[in-house]
Amino acid sequence: MVTQHSVIGVIGSGAMGSGIAQVAARANHKVIVYDSNEEALKRSESQLKATLLKLVEKQKITVSEQNSIVTNIQFSKSLASFSECELIIEAIVENLEVKQKLFGELENICSSTCLLASNTSSLSITSIAAVCKFPARVLGIHFFNPATLMPLVEIIPGIATDPAHAPACKTLIDSWGKVTVVAKDTPGFIVNRVARPFYSEALRIYEEGIADIATIDWAMKEIGGFKMGPFELMDMIGHDVNYVVTETVWKQFYYDPKFKPALSQKRLLEAGFLGKKSGQGFYSYAEGAKLPEATKDPHLGNTIFTRILVMLINEAADSLYLGVASAADIDLAMTKGVNYPKGLLQWADDFGISHVIRELTALNDFYAEDRYRISPLLKQKFINNAHFTR
Ligand SMILES: NC(=O)c1ccc[n+]([C@@H]2O[C@H](COP(=O)([O-])OP(=O)(O)OC[C@H]3O[C@@H](n4cnc5c(N)ncnc54)[C@H](O)[C@@H]3O)[C@@H](O)[C@H]2O)c1
Repeated sequence: MVTQHSVIGVIGSGAMGSGIAQVAARANHKVIVYDSNEEALKRSESQLKATLLKLVEKQKITVSEQNSIVTNIQFSKSLASFSECELIIEAIVENLEVKQKLFGELENICSSTCLLASNTSSLSITSIAAVCKFPARVLGIHFFNPATLMPLVEIIPGIATDPAHAPACKTLIDSWGKVTVVAKDTPGFIVNRVARPFYSEALRIYEEGIADIATIDWAMKEIGGFKMGPFELMDMIGHDVNYVVTETVWKQFYYDPKFKPALSQKRLLEAGFLGKKSGQGFYSYAEGAKLPEATKDPHLGNTIFTRILVMLINEAADSLYLGVASAADIDLAMTKGVNYPKGLLQWADDFGISHVIRELTALNDFYAEDRYRISPLLKQKFINNAHFTR
């Protein structure tokens, strides 16, 4: 039974594992962190100390909080100490076979009541659990990057998960100050599925030559109110990560054209133009590089924004239609997981469902591609003159 006094295990001390350990330790749990790479473990420990020092300097935490976080985390070179954990969160490399092997090993070490969670972004929880003797104890607990700052956590029960475990983990992680939503075990869960059109429709508009990247980014920020434009955001996430998530979701949906990746992004990845981290992505990050100018034409901007928005709303509606999550959780996930200015179902109601249908029908008629098919739930709402949120 997981409680606020449980010992938490974190496996993988990279970007995500280190952040998750810090969050759990700050909530006063004893946390044990393991990584198969000793260098990564050492790095995580020294980075944690440096991060906490900065937080004290900025007066975000007190010295006593800093000390208690450091004391709460034990960096371990072996998995043996994980026998005292009541919840283990795995944040290792995104590879099904490697994760399955680890989960199989963990069952021989941990107690019979310990829950095993994966932080996977795109793999099926059910398939990770399939190798376990007790798949009922396995679930997804998906934090967002950086885990210390992003409020959202998706909780994902697999097919075989005991129905009591998701609510118990939700209560626990809420107590860590996070915002939790429950998602069905489907590709991309909520955020990594519903957000796909933000990137893919922007890429499509760019590839068709309707607008350049600077203009598309400007339209989404200026007219849409998004904090970052799609190209800036893809460059920040890194094309190695963003492209791979798109491709994984597309493949897992049996190559549904709605999720088809874009060649222009694949080429960047092939060239090693990974975005900000490599100094070149859609934009150049070289010193003194001149940023391209946006064409600030309100009509063009509105066309771009409306096309991307209705595609996002369509995916949010379809996720609701297919039972991926509740309407409230879908809207919460997009505002707390990727900082959208408004939940997409709320946006559909405010924008007008008839308006959304009209825009999607125009895209569908013009392109005659399955990519632009309209969610049956949107059609139902339109026919019944109904709303999503009121
Ligand atoms: N980075 C993100 O934006 C993000 C966001 C949400 C979820 N995730 C998911 O979190 C997980 C970790 O991602 P990350 O970005 O922290 O990766 P990372 O590469 O920063 O860290 C992974 C760590 O796991 C260790 N590792 C690999 N195999 C191991 C094993 N068998 N046993 C123990 N340790 C092992 C590596 O040494 C490495 O230190 C992945 O499943 C990823 O999909 C990542």
